[in-house]
Amino acid sequence: MSSPAIEPIRFDFQVAFFEDEGFSAERLQELAPKLEADRTTVVETDLQQFAGGEAAIPANKQPLDAGFFELPERLLAEYYEDRRGSELGRIMQTAKRLREIVDRVVVLGIGGSYMGAKALMDGCCHPFFNELSRGERGSYPRMYFEGNNVDNDATQGLLSLLGNGKRATSVDESWAIVVISKSGGTLETAAAFRQFLAALEASCEDPTDVAQRVVPVTGTSGKLFDLSTAIGCPDVYPVPDGVGGRFSILSAVGLLPAAILGINVLRLLEGAAAMNEHFRTAPVGQNAVLDYVGTGHLWETRGANIRILSVWSKALESTGLWYDQLLAESLGKDERGTTPLTTVNTRDLHSRAQQHQEGRRDKLITNLIVDQWRCDPLAIGQSKHDQDGLNRRADKTLPDIMSAAIAGTNLAYREVGRPTTDIHLPLGDEASLGQFFQMMMLATVVEGRMIGINPYGQPGVEAYKINTNRILG
Ligand code: PA5
Repeated sequence: MSSPAIEPIRFDFQVAFFEDEGFSAERLQELAPKLEADRTTVVETDLQQFAGGEAAIPANKQPLDAGFFELPERLLAEYYEDRRGSELGRIMQTAKRLREIVDRVVVLGIGGSYMGAKALMDGCCHPFFNELSRGERGSYPRMYFEGNNVDNDATQGLLSLLGNGKRATSVDESWAIVVISKSGGTLETAAAFRQFLAALEASCEDPTDVAQRVVPVTGTSGKLFDLSTAIGCPDVYPVPDGVGGRFSILSAVGLLPAAILGINVLRLLEGAAAMNEHFRTAPVGQNAVLDYVGTGHLWETRGANIRILSVWSKALESTGLWYDQLLAESLGKDERGTTPLTTVNTRDLHSRAQQHQEGRRDKLITNLIVDQWRCDPLAIGQSKHDQDGLNRRADKTLPDIMSAAIAGTNLAYREVGRPTTDIHLPLGDEASLGQFFQMMMLATVVEGRMIGINPYGQPGVEAYKINTNRILG
């Protein structure tokens, strides 16, 4: 049976240009040869050099973690070739196995080993997923995230929720760990793994159950790999070589937690593969990736060095934070790169909009809009208590108000010459989000090639680690 067609996400850049000020969308077309050359670099040169191994990669392009690009197509092809033995097939089996034996899963990881899975859970699941009964969750386990900090109270709060090592006597009391670290040596994740593993061991009557309840996602060598081997974990998933942490959402790093939650990982990958095809073939002016990069670049040269992702759905806040990391860690180098910032609206209209409307002219705002909500529109409704005066708007629904707020905010910004662009997701579903994640990863790499910054690697993060270790003695 073939999958339903992917409805494309749409990027609208028209509102970022001001014709009457002589800054028209023509400027994007002037940039087209450069954008297309950078696309060729990403689609051809980078992939050839990546395939040729380290010796084929020029020094100024190392590391070259281009492996994320063709990952969706590769994982899908392998799955359709061998539904049980492929990586995706095995991920689905592990998810099913865990679903049958535990009711809670703790995902340990930080940075790129955490933010994608959190974005997927918040983007695709019921907003109060963990509060639902097991039946209402379709038996999919609750999910918690730790190892993304060294917060004494948060860690102990979760350990106490899990019973502080109390013997689990039923599936409802049982829990599992998914521990994710590409290097296998990140302090926050390693410390949390040690603490949660001790609690898990105490909670299992039969010591052989522990290995069944720990699923590592890590490199093919390193401390976590060795630890997993010593524990005897039956399922260990790789972070593929050549896929950097913040580019790993569509590898086991994001897909395993997603599958555990019952998220349709095939649709996610199909969405991403559709974005790849669009990126490869669509011309400037109709290419979401190139248009996004070009518009952002043009505005950066006019002083807009803060890039705001304004998400118009609570479910997308973690998606915004995922993008914050992607952009900041990829292009914040050599004293360059725009600064990302996520706002959630309409909430932040009451905290940040003042500055966006009248503050420094250093921002480009990109709205991330879901065109169709999952639930039917909820009307304000009539009330016998009309002191709030809302009966005259009783028929208006929350989506009506949201649409009016989006249009009203864009108009207010436009009237004072503040640029905005819009990304429209047809639905807040896997196919749309798969396209969006791939769009932003591609855009980040193209932008890096355009401004001469290597988007891969994060040499600046080492400094804090070295100091922390030295201070710890
Ligand atoms: O994007 C990155 O590479 C980083 O944010 C890493 O994901 C983060 O530092 C965690 O690293 P690791 O997965 O090795 O524990």
